[in-house]
Amino acid sequence: MSEITSFEKGRSPFSPGQPVPPDMFIGRREQVERMLRSAQQVTLGKQQNIFVTGEYGIGKSSLISYVRSKSEEELHVAGFHVFLGGVNTIEEMVVHVVSRVIQQSHASKVYDRVKSFLSKYVKGVEFFGVRLDTRALRDDAAELSHDFLPFLRRVWASLQEEYKGIALYLDDLNGIAREPRFSSMLKSLVDEISVSSGNGLPLLLVLGGVPERRREMIECHRPVERVFDIVRLNPLSDPETEEFFSQAFDSVNMTLKDGVEKEMAKWSGGLPKLMHEIGDAVYWQDHDGVVDMHDTNTGVLAAADIVGEKYFEPVRQALRSRDYRSILGKLGRLARSTLSFRKADLAKGLVDSEKKKLNNFLQRMKKLHALCPGDVRGEWVFPNQLVAFYLFLESTRTGSRPQSS
Ligand SMILES: Nc1ncnc2c1ncn2[C@@H]1O[C@H](COP(=O)(O)OP(=O)(O)OP(=O)(O)O)[C@@H](O)[C@H]1O
Ligand SMILES: [Mg+2]
Repeated sequence: MSEITSFEKGRSPFSPGQPVPPDMFIGRREQVERMLRSAQQVTLGKQQNIFVTGEYGIGKSSLISYVRSKSEEELHVAGFHVFLGGVNTIEEMVVHVVSRVIQQSHASKVYDRVKSFLSKYVKGVEFFGVRLDTRALRDDAAELSHDFLPFLRRVWASLQEEYKGIALYLDDLNGIAREPRFSSMLKSLVDEISVSSGNGLPLLLVLGGVPERRREMIECHRPVERVFDIVRLNPLSDPETEEFFSQAFDSVNMTLKDGVEKEMAKWSGGLPKLMHEIGDAVYWQDHDGVVDMHDTNTGVLAAADIVGEKYFEPVRQALRSRDYRSILGKLGRLARSTLSFRKADLAKGLVDSEKKKLNNFLQRMKKLHALCPGDVRGEWVFPNQLVAFYLFLESTRTGSRPQSS
């Protein structure tokens, strides 16, 4: 078979760093059903609140995006997916929400009606979307944040002929979770809707963020705990991960040699972010349309570099030290199977010279937030699965490769 150069290759089916498109979305049946059930309740007039949570890169935004499109197509619930990553105040949040409502309405049939009451924030319509008057929007942000419920009601009024409900997905919560006004604003919003009988709002309110954001919101305003039902995302199962790789390579007419999807699944640990990084790296390693073990192994190493560079650069630098590589080999094996371990277990099998460097290694990793001391003396914990699997991937390099299980 002739070699295919990278230049000649088509579009990679993997999308590292972006929510997955609906046709590549796999698994999460239970969570999807749970959320669609709420969307359906909303269409029957019952307001619903959900907090989608799980660690970094586990697939919160992808789930939200998938549910948004399903709810819209199948249940006629118009949804607005707003990313609040850099947002710290409710005024900024309102600016993001209004912008999203305008931009999204533009892409659908309801734009004219939404435009009629938000026209003062529209400068013009261009080929790529609406040009917003962000200054006017910022000037009004304080007022809009006080009148957030009336604002939502007006959006709903302009949608209700075509839709049966409205959904607001506030995703990527970050700094705003520590803003007490945010938690109390949402709580009041929910309370006001529930007491306004006859004038209710068929609203599905969904928040997306890592578990710490939820904890912060509860610390700011305790009742928030009771308001949101939790949809939790865990790593995907091995069969789901294997199916993901088979489906993705199949979609671009590439063949997988026996066992390679298992191998890729093993290194990605069911973490969607890693699945895409590994899949993408393997995709570019292959030059004949048939993915074999060699493509897979070189792809996994390339993915370790990419993941390290993108998310863990200081850790990656520290691990370059020769002193640390043999300890890393051992740590890699532990990282694959557990989120916490005993220092004594890590020390087992290390030679004396390595043992001497162990404390220093642990302290360095702690400083870089790649490890933290556990509750019990002598116990260490990986702060999240992505770090743990990155260390596992990184340990594949010569000299520190753990034995495959
Ligand atoms: N169900 C899924 N099927 C296939 N790919 C997925 C799935 N869920 C997530 N992904 C992929 O995994 C990566 C991370 O997903 P996503 O951005 O949705 O996670 P997240 O939890 O929102 O991350 P963050 O905490 O960084 O916001 C993306 O590349 C996305 O395409
Ligand atoms: Mg996200």
